[in-house]
Amino acid sequence: MKKPEDHIIVIFGGRGDLAMRKIMPALYALFVQDLLPDRFAIIGTGRNQLDDEVYRGEVRQALLKFSGEKKKIGSEKFLERLFYLGIDPSDTGAYSKLSRKLEELRKEAEISGRTLFYLSVPPDLYEVIPLNLALHGLNVESDGWKKVIIEKPFGHDYDSAVELNEKLQSFWKEHQIYRIDHYLGKETVQNILVTRFSNGIFEPLWNRNYVHHVEITSSESLGIEKRGAYYEKAGALRDMIQNHLLHLVGFIAMEPPSSIDSNSIRNEIVKVFQSFRQIKPEEVIKCAIRGQYTSSHIKGEAVKGYREEENVSPESKTETFAALKFYIDNWRWGGVPFYIRTGKRLPTRVTEAVIHFKETPHPLFSQKSADSGPNQLIIRIQPDEGILIKFGMKIPGAGFNVKNVNMDFHYSDLAAERIPEAYERLLYDSMNGDSTLYTRSDAVMAAWRFLEPVIREWENNREIPVYGYPAGSWGPEKVDELIDEPDITWRYPCKNLADDGIYCEL
Ligand code: BG6
Repeated sequence: MKKPEDHIIVIFGGRGDLAMRKIMPALYALFVQDLLPDRFAIIGTGRNQLDDEVYRGEVRQALLKFSGEKKKIGSEKFLERLFYLGIDPSDTGAYSKLSRKLEELRKEAEISGRTLFYLSVPPDLYEVIPLNLALHGLNVESDGWKKVIIEKPFGHDYDSAVELNEKLQSFWKEHQIYRIDHYLGKETVQNILVTRFSNGIFEPLWNRNYVHHVEITSSESLGIEKRGAYYEKAGALRDMIQNHLLHLVGFIAMEPPSSIDSNSIRNEIVKVFQSFRQIKPEEVIKCAIRGQYTSSHIKGEAVKGYREEENVSPESKTETFAALKFYIDNWRWGGVPFYIRTGKRLPTRVTEAVIHFKETPHPLFSQKSADSGPNQLIIRIQPDEGILIKFGMKIPGAGFNVKNVNMDFHYSDLAAERIPEAYERLLYDSMNGDSTLYTRSDAVMAAWRFLEPVIREWENNREIPVYGYPAGSWGPEKVDELIDEPDITWRYPCKNLADDGIYCEL
């Protein structure tokens, strides 16, 4: 793998949760693998004034806690390249300070003008920072590329996303804007493409003739932690569905791209999004369910309800659980329902996509055991990354009793090393100018446009309840009604709270 060209990385929100948990460990992992340039520097910014040494100490602690690298000993060399700048990102004047710091480091370490700005900040700064950077000429590429990475959610709804996009594009060129959706950086998400398009056996079945329905779940056992202020404005629909889950749908449902380059893949994803059947406002009550966790006990320990969390209104209607049923109107998927759900404080952390195949056309073997049923292909995104196929086998003995068995592949069997973190891959790609795994503006807009009726109805229609669900359960019971077919339920990867955190195959 090639080393990126020398450059400086500026992280706005350099002391925040995301920077400490994900961005710094990812940069350090690249450093350990010798995948950062020979000459580079990282500037973390924050509102407080700190000196470099104190900041390095904070990052050292974060690496000890969150980095998967064994070689933590070598972190000093990495930390030496780290600097801190105390600025208020909404103060236009402060950017001259940043400009000076960049010049100083470029001279000192002989680094070119190439700069990567990472906006690890609340969404209300997504417009402010790029504008201020541009006002100070920090987007000008005459002395080397300039790129800006913007976290999700990109906008708050369709109109605000269009507006944000127009503003950004008025001072940054599209090739400079990297909209991050870290799910696209996950190995197992990319592996969906390989599973589908490097094997001859799946693609012929991957359509409405053989697939009964598709189910995607992303459940988390954690609550909202310290992110109440952000989450109150986002909710599960904006935080997880608009980006991560719809992109998973994109990978599962897309047509084979003409090649593996950035535009071909992104074109196919957009086509899926543009084929989502528009949900009518009056249908929202039936095809979208929202919920909010309430206080309960998990493994004997009291757990707060969402409304008791820090920075959350005691009357909050923000959803911590969301589930949707929808269709993709194209030749491949016409009539196949897609069910997706996500939630906080569910029994376990698991993300998986399940392709439920149709029954055999002729039920030859009527003596089926309780655990028999149509074939399923389960793509486990995390944890215990892998692929599982369920299929029927004869139970040894008299007659023809059929039971479902598992053919289970664990991704860990493939790689001797640990599986790289999503942020590692995405940062590396952005440094090398590869935007394949970043979201393009048309996809972002199409995703918002699709969700617009749900957002509006949830905002304005008082008849649509926010169902409470006890922390540690699988969400509101009402969600079962989304699947209105007898004998079909959601798949519960883990039913038992005692198995919290452990993926158990039932
Ligand atoms: C983030 C959301 O984008 O994804 C979080 O803002 C969520 O609320 C997280 O917890 C989940 O990511 P992962 O990689 O742990 O599934």
